[in-house]
Amino acid sequence: MGIKFVSTGRYLPDKVLTNFDLEKMVDTSDEWIRTRTGIKERRIAPSEMATSDMVTEAARIALDRANLKPEDIDCIIVATVTPDNAYPSTACWVQKNLGLKHFPAFDIEAACSGFLYGVIVAKSLLESKAATRVLVSGAETMSRAVNWEDRETCVLFGDGAGVAILELSNDESDILSYNWAADGNLGELLIQPAGGSRLPPSHETIDKKLHSVFMQGADVFKNAVRWMADSAERALRDAGMTKDDIDLYIPHQANIRIIESTIKRVGIPKEKTVITIDRFANISAATVPIAIDCAVEEGRLKRGDIVLLNTFGGGFTWGAMVVKW
Ligand code: UT7
Repeated sequence: MGIKFVSTGRYLPDKVLTNFDLEKMVDTSDEWIRTRTGIKERRIAPSEMATSDMVTEAARIALDRANLKPEDIDCIIVATVTPDNAYPSTACWVQKNLGLKHFPAFDIEAACSGFLYGVIVAKSLLESKAATRVLVSGAETMSRAVNWEDRETCVLFGDGAGVAILELSNDESDILSYNWAADGNLGELLIQPAGGSRLPPSHETIDKKLHSVFMQGADVFKNAVRWMADSAERALRDAGMTKDDIDLYIPHQANIRIIESTIKRVGIPKEKTVITIDRFANISAATVPIAIDCAVEEGRLKRGDIVLLNTFGGGFTWGAMVVKW
């Protein structure tokens, strides 16, 4: 039996923050942001909304589309670096919001690679019969985790949630190959320094804004291209395929120049690449499931298509997956 993405859903807050809005907040320009990153605008969650609320909205859409009831789910995995709380997990709040209980719900933290990691864990749970239908989400409220006075990071991120429902299936749909990896030696290059056991919250950590994103952008950029290209090529080889067999390429959306450099290395045409960074910016773990959902809705991803998912994020973490949709 294969693993099937039965259905997907996304939630993006209504509020749009454009590059022109940011020009009024920090010393930046629409021209710089567009040409250096490809971003034109991003979505910002209303203050009363937390990450689990966005996942719940996206989950309801995915359930509706598959004609499923919340009770048909028996495991929830949420990938996020912006959980509602340190504990309980965001997945537990989603379970509560959906009116469910008495099955496993937990978060995965693999930064921007979290959704791919979550799908890989879900596949193992399904194959081992530990679950029969898993809801996997990548979701972030990055607007609560950036320093809005730091132009080098605040222009890059946005809020949103994407969801996929996975189950075992007898039809042709399947995960044909995947690889996932991390290199913790490079963790300092992309980090939220404070708020955990290393540096608990204090007046000093708040004054120094250490509860926000710190990033060595150029190093992250170089590693992202290197490892996304490497893992994409490996996933294709392991599936017994070449780049020409792919119908669609869905990469993590951190910077249009990272995507362009990666597709050049792997030899994937831009027409086969899903780009959402212009509209939604970098939503960390949520970019891949949101891009998948957009592709499905736009008719670019259809049953039987071969799609290559590819990701990179803090940790560093990265991975790739070939899916027969
Ligand atoms: O999701 C995974 C995590 N994130 C990523 O993958 C992001 C990876 N990195 C990147 O996307 C890019 O490195 C950035 C977009 C973050 C930066 O682009 P860059 O081309 O590497 O720019 P830079 O950091 O080399 O900065 C160039 C100049 C600097 O000025 P000087 O020193 O040359 O005078 C910056 O101070 O651009 C300046 N700058 C800005 N100017 C206007 C940096 N941010 C801004 C800004 N507006 N927002």
